[in-house]
Amino acid sequence: MHNPCRICGGTVKGSIDLGRHPRGNAFPRPGDTADEFFYRLVVGMCDVCTMVQLLEDIPQEVRYHDEYPYHASGSAIHRRHFEEIAQGFLDTELTGPDPFAVEIGSNDGVMLARIARAGVRHLGVEPSRQVAEMSRAKGVRVLPEFFDEGTAERIRAEHGPADVMFGANVIAHISHLASVLRGAALLLARTGVFVFEEPYLGSVVEKTAFDILYDEHSFVFSVRAIQAAAERFGLELVDARPMEIHGGSMRYTLAPAGARPVSPRVGELLEKEAAQGLGEHATLEEFARRARTVRDDLTALVRDLHAQGKRIVGYGAPAKITTVTNYCGIGPDLIPFVCDSTPSKQGRLVAGTHIPVRAPEAFSADHPDYALLFAWNHAEEIMAKEREFAERGGRWILYVPDVHIV
Ligand code: TYD
Ligand code: ZN
Repeated sequence: MHNPCRICGGTVKGSIDLGRHPRGNAFPRPGDTADEFFYRLVVGMCDVCTMVQLLEDIPQEVRYHDEYPYHASGSAIHRRHFEEIAQGFLDTELTGPDPFAVEIGSNDGVMLARIARAGVRHLGVEPSRQVAEMSRAKGVRVLPEFFDEGTAERIRAEHGPADVMFGANVIAHISHLASVLRGAALLLARTGVFVFEEPYLGSVVEKTAFDILYDEHSFVFSVRAIQAAAERFGLELVDARPMEIHGGSMRYTLAPAGARPVSPRVGELLEKEAAQGLGEHATLEEFARRARTVRDDLTALVRDLHAQGKRIVGYGAPAKITTVTNYCGIGPDLIPFVCDSTPSKQGRLVAGTHIPVRAPEAFSADHPDYALLFAWNHAEEIMAKEREFAERGGRWILYVPDVHIV
């Protein structure tokens, strides 16, 4: 499978083929699974700009529907993270006269609420209606649209240039990334910055985190690919910082080309990426082989425990669960349910495999023998919260970076 690159038109060769998958965040209602949408989950790298991307593109209207269930403030650690980011902007970038901040994919308003409370002009651009409503309730101004070049032009005409543009776990979701970058170049003030943080290819490869691959992640960014993409649209990568959140992310800072000094961190990370072979097809092919090993090991372990009469329940229903359970063929016969704290996911099913999602109380009320941790990027928070489970002899199953029991 080959496709033209969405950024530069080069050739993308499909190196990782995980087969047919439903949408990661579909979470259908029981009885509403007859016409589930499936696509072929193939990921590859561009020959020219090294951008890692999905080969098959799912229309964004299908993905960010009005009931889009992901809530950014669902984890206490994430909430604190976004409040700290907002405070950082207030202290550094939003100190001039009447500053203006724009967030792409403002979700439930967790970041902008802090900016709004400080009385700073802001605008969230968020097409999913339910989460947009949640942010309005927090006093956040929202434009219920997809961000692209046209939106950027209209925002600039109405509000003037942006001092800060921000996006978290959303920029890599946008298949029309080229238009977003063109829009950022249009909307940013000469002194402005476009900051975004997204799952990092280096961490994904290092952890064999194949479950980060699903329909919403149109791209998996690297420093090298982002530097090249920025350059193409009149922007410049001036800083990049690795972060632990979401199982390994990178925070990129783009500025109008030539407007700001470039941090030495950028060069250091580029060297590290070269040493890790991040720009090579062979690295992705090796990753695909390791993903198959994880699949075989996890399936064998779960089947084996099940055959021994052990009860295994899933913990967390992130979008990632859709990739793992479909790729491994793990259904409700092996895992009767998975618990998740997000109310809008409870009572629904994991797409494709149809494992029911229940409230965390279903887990704590009747501890299983094993808990398969699908929300592995929240391991610390969850294991602390469910200390009693382990104290009573319960064991956690993890599959990142390999299958193991703790
Ligand atoms: P997350 O990893 O944030 O997102 P993604 O869907 O992009 O992979 O999802 C974490 C999920 O785990 C989310 O549905 C909420 C759930 N969760 C719990 O059920 N309990 C918890 O204590 C935490 C931290 C998360
Ligand atoms: Zn390319």
